[in-house]
Order: sequence, then structure tokens, then C-alpha cells
Amino acid sequence: MFQKEVKNGHLYWDGCDTVTLAKQYGTPLYVYSENMILKECQDLKEQFINKYPNTRVAYASKAFNTIAMLQLINQVNFSLDVVSGGELYTAIAADFPAEKIEFNGNNKSEAELEMALDYGVGRIIVDSLQEVELIQSICRKLAKKARIMFRITPEVDVKTHAFISTGQKDSKFGIPLAPEILYPQIEKVLQAEDLEFYGFHFHVGSQLSDNNAHLAAVKVALNLMLEVKKRYGYQIKELNYGGGFGVCYTKTDVRKPYRYFLDPVMELTEKFCQENKLLRPEIVIEPGRSIVAEAGITLHTIGAIKELPDLRKYISIDGGMTDNIRPGLYDAKYSGVVANKMNEPVSKEVTISGKACESTDLLIKDIAVPSVVVAGDLFATFTTGAYGYSMASNYNKLPLPAVIFVKDGQSEVVVKRQTYAQMIQNEVKR
Ligand code: LLP
Repeated sequence: MFQKEVKNGHLYWDGCDTVTLAKQYGTPLYVYSENMILKECQDLKEQFINKYPNTRVAYASKAFNTIAMLQLINQVNFSLDVVSGGELYTAIAADFPAEKIEFNGNNKSEAELEMALDYGVGRIIVDSLQEVELIQSICRKLAKKARIMFRITPEVDVKTHAFISTGQKDSKFGIPLAPEILYPQIEKVLQAEDLEFYGFHFHVGSQLSDNNAHLAAVKVALNLMLEVKKRYGYQIKELNYGGGFGVCYTKTDVRKPYRYFLDPVMELTEKFCQENKLLRPEIVIEPGRSIVAEAGITLHTIGAIKELPDLRKYISIDGGMTDNIRPGLYDAKYSGVVANKMNEPVSKEVTISGKACESTDLLIKDIAVPSVVVAGDLFATFTTGAYGYSMASNYNKLPLPAVIFVKDGQSEVVVKRQTYAQMIQNEVKR
């Protein structure tokens, strides 16, 4: 099968020459290897779903939510996590089965909840207490029953960038653990006829490189399950342990296999349930990044080149923070190559800069490239598949790039390049 290959000095991605792809579809271009996405899903099946009965994977679609991607997720029979009316709308457009959709989010609007209940989503993951009442009033209006989980704040510290850490005590996400807040709500939900209580959900953070935070949060969730059994005699049906599995962006990142995170977590879960005579609930995980990040690359054409004597060389590309805001927002590191000069030795350290009018629009600060790089060369950035296209913007009125899927040498557009006309279509001329 696939992988990243070099032929005739060109970078190939899932059997396709990136230089040809850039000519055919233009740049900036998002290129996803379908085989790599499928391989991630297969790994999750082997290391989690098939290994541990009564488990599920819900793809956190915020990482990359497009119709073609959601169709692929449905094809591999995973569930889906959405966090807004827009993500849900895309899922509906992709004919994603309602019962396999989970609706997360810390401030779902009445209209979004109504849309979700009307479509019949499988779970609503409640993030605040006022949401319970809102869901109940919609259930009454639509004569529907809602299957809900409580997202809790597990109060664990996470070793990752503070901007993508979510499980700490002072977090806008989740319901606080304080018993005087939590238990009256659980009681209320257990008594409500229009609500079915499934269990607890947490998400500790993203791009995690060790499983300490997961393990600490799992203990919290398991103890809550036990407490609910003791207090109300109610056995919860499901625990959702969130996502967060880290991937490789640069040579210094070490990617851990899913089993590294999940085996200890599942052992702990099984043991706890046996010791406390509880039925082991269904365990759901919600990875986003790890399913799509490494499968995606971005292609840009090199333009202006600026040499500041004794200081730095800036090589500009025809995109940047508008198609990948992560370096500007999180100081995220990436690796890349001059895709049409793969056989040339790299030596010169340069800075790859974007075209937006913003000093932080620097894609990669120090990267070795071939000694001769000229306008028209093609730059490929690796591991852009997660939170790249999905966080893209029209800043400076740059159109959103096209997205293509490649597989075994074949390519296919899955999102067309945005046009100038589309960019201003909602603007009103006075
Ligand atoms: N479940 C919940 C409730 C989440 O909030 C998230 C991510 C996930 C699952 C998926 O986490 P993952 O497996 O992708 O790490 N824009 C940031 C990442 C924000 C993640 C927010 N929540 C970035 O570009 O790094």
C-alpha cells in the first residue's frame, strides 16, 4: 500500500505526483491520502473495537468536517461527534445515520438542539445544567425522548499546550464535579420521562503524548459511575473518554500507538467494574486529530523570496495562516519539503512565510531546504490534515483552498476551491 514516496525527484502522496496535482488543481491545495485515513481507522479497530467488546469510536469531526470525510467515517462504521448546527448539517448532507451521531458543545443553541432532536441524534452530551431544561422543553415540543450524557470536568492537569487543554478544574467545558451541583441534576435527569441518562463524558485535552491525564480522568468517571449506582441503584450504560491522541508533526514528536493509551485505560475500567460488581458500560472514544492529521498535506506554490543579509531568508508561499492558523495561534511546529526538488540535498535554513498581512503568519521558522529554491517551486507541509482546513479563514479575502482525496494514484476533488464570487455572495451592495 501507500506511503510517502519519492519518484523522479518529486514527492508522491498515495501514488500521486504532488507536482502534477498542483498543476491540475492549483494551490493552495489540501491533499488527503484515503489509504492513510483508512489505515488509522483499521488501527483503531484492531487495537480497540475488536480487542475490547462493547466499544465504539466517534470521530471528532471538528478536526476535518466535510461531506466526503463523513461518508468515509460512515463507511468504516464509526460514530460521529459534531459540535454545532453546521457540523450536524454537513453530517445530514452526508446521510450520516442519526443514531450514530453524538452532539457535543458548551453552548448549544435552542435551534441547534431542536435540529439534533428532530434528526434523532444518538446522544446529546450535556455540557451545562441549563442545557438540561432546554432539551426537556424541546423534547416536549417535538414529543421526542433524548438520550443524554453529562460531560464532566474531570479536574486533571494535562501536559499539552494550554490552549488545547480542557480537563482542568478552571475550564469552560463540562459540568463541575462539586457534589452539590452534580447529584441533584443526575437525580432530576433520572426522574425525567423525556430523558434517558446514558452516562458520563470527558475530554482532557488534545495532542497528548502520555496517558496520565486520561488515566486520572477515567478514575474520576468510574467513581462517579459507582456513586450513581450506590445513590440511585442506577447502572449507567456508557462512558465516553474523549479523544486527544497525539500525532507526529516534526522529527522530535514520537507518536504512540493507540494501544499505549487504550490498554491501560481498558484494564483499569475492567478491573474497577469487576471489583465493584458493576456491569462494564459501553466505552466510547472520540479521536479527531489522530484519524486525519498525518493523512493530510498542504501544497503551496513558492513566490517572493527575500534575503536579509546575515539574518534570514524568507520564502513566501501562496497561502499560510488563512489555510493553517496553527503556527500563528499555538506556535505549532510543522515539517515540510520542496516537493519538486526531493533529490537535492537540503542545507540552507530559511523561514517559510505566508501571504497574509500579519507578522505571525510564518508557517515554519527554521527549515533546511535545497540551496536553490525559486519562485514556482512547490512546498509541501506535512501533517496538516487536522484543524487545518477546518480552521481556515477568509482573512485578507483569500479564498478557501480546494481539498482533494488521493488513493492508489487516483485523485478526486472533495471540496472545490472557493471563488471570489462565493466569498462576497452574502455581502449586500447599498
Ligand atoms: N472530543 C471533544 C469533546 C473535544 O473537545 C475534542 C477536541 C475532541 C474530542 C478531539 O480531540 P483530538 O482527538 O482531535 O485531539 N484546534 C486545536 C485542537 C482543539 C481540540 C478541541 N477539542 C488544534 O489545532 O490543535
